[in-house]
Amino acid sequence: MIDACGRKIDYVRISITDRCNLRCVYCMPENGVQSMQHSDILTYEEIMRLVRLMTQLGIRHVRITGGEPMARRGCLDLVDRIHRIPGIETIAMTTNGLLLSGCVSWAREAGLDAINVSLDTLNPETYRKMARGGDVRRVLAVIDEALELGMRVKINAVPVRGLNDKDLCELAALAWDRDICVRFIELMPVGCGAELQPIPSDEVRRMMEEAFGPAQEDVGKHGFGPAKYIRPRGFTGSIGLISPMSHEFCGECNRVRLTADGYLKLCLNHTAGLDLRAMMRGGADDDALLEALSGAIARKPRRHGFEEDIGDREVRRMNEIGG
Ligand code: GTP
Ligand code: 5AD
Ligand code: SF4
Repeated sequence: MIDACGRKIDYVRISITDRCNLRCVYCMPENGVQSMQHSDILTYEEIMRLVRLMTQLGIRHVRITGGEPMARRGCLDLVDRIHRIPGIETIAMTTNGLLLSGCVSWAREAGLDAINVSLDTLNPETYRKMARGGDVRRVLAVIDEALELGMRVKINAVPVRGLNDKDLCELAALAWDRDICVRFIELMPVGCGAELQPIPSDEVRRMMEEAFGPAQEDVGKHGFGPAKYIRPRGFTGSIGLISPMSHEFCGECNRVRLTADGYLKLCLNHTAGLDLRAMMRGGADDDALLEALSGAIARKPRRHGFEEDIGDREVRRMNEIGG
């Protein structure tokens, strides 16, 4: 579908739970998290119905997110069902990796094409400090197993000043001898992210060039997201920079989001959207849903406006949005 700004929308990020087995500092508070009620969360049947309808509007790529998607029972069965829907070309997952331990080959068999694994440092102590739990060795084992099974793997790291700034080059070096993308995401001032200090992408890039020498520019697209990729000489994989703050990419945005409680979000930073759960549970038929979906997508906001007074700023935390 083409929105009012002429952007082609063919990608949906589906958050299937707001729960997570970690508490990353930029995403969730350490204590006192109020989770959504089970009855508020879309059933897998409801999600399947929406994905089928979205294919009629041109959605071709699905990304399953959370919270931690693997924290919801049946996640891989849902992957399997979605990947069989005619019209769906790729299905990927954004995960912290821990709960994939022991079931990577099952995920592959379920049709999962790619995983983006959140990993901010290789230092076990810093990992525990930033993720407030987990074990970095388990995450690395999952990454290597997924690569062996032929899945495309990307690493998502959020540079935070005073926390992992010293660890970024070591993390990037994972792409030296592995065919993976190590991506650095500029911290966004959403939820807990607003209280931390970002490191702009240009500074991360300078760190990489100091450590690894000049890099080849624009090496491929590697998926459907907003990252720009570079490859230092001798690297097998690549380094990605996702720069929503310093190099806004809204003009090329191709996506909408579905929250676990069934709200269609048109942009990460705006509350504008559509309560699909209320419509479905109120008895809306497929035609009514299609009409509402296409009307909403057409109204997708032009820009995120993180640094402006936009009037409908998102109040959900990242674990409720799915990134
Ligand atoms: P691929 O490149 O296809 O693998 O997908 P992706 O980069 O969209 O997926 P991922 O879930 O790994 O997202 C990486 C980071 O980019 C997350 O921090 C997202 O919040 C951020 N991101 C993804 N889409 C958008 C967007 O539309 N706007 C903004 N501001 N950030 C986004
Ligand atoms: N800013 C930038 N990225 C974030 N993520 C979570 N919270 C933030 C934030 N405030 C990232 C995680 C995960 C992805 C889905 O979103 O690292 O990989
Ligand atoms: Fe969990 Fe992902 Fe949020 Fe970290 S970023 S707390 S792994 S949902």
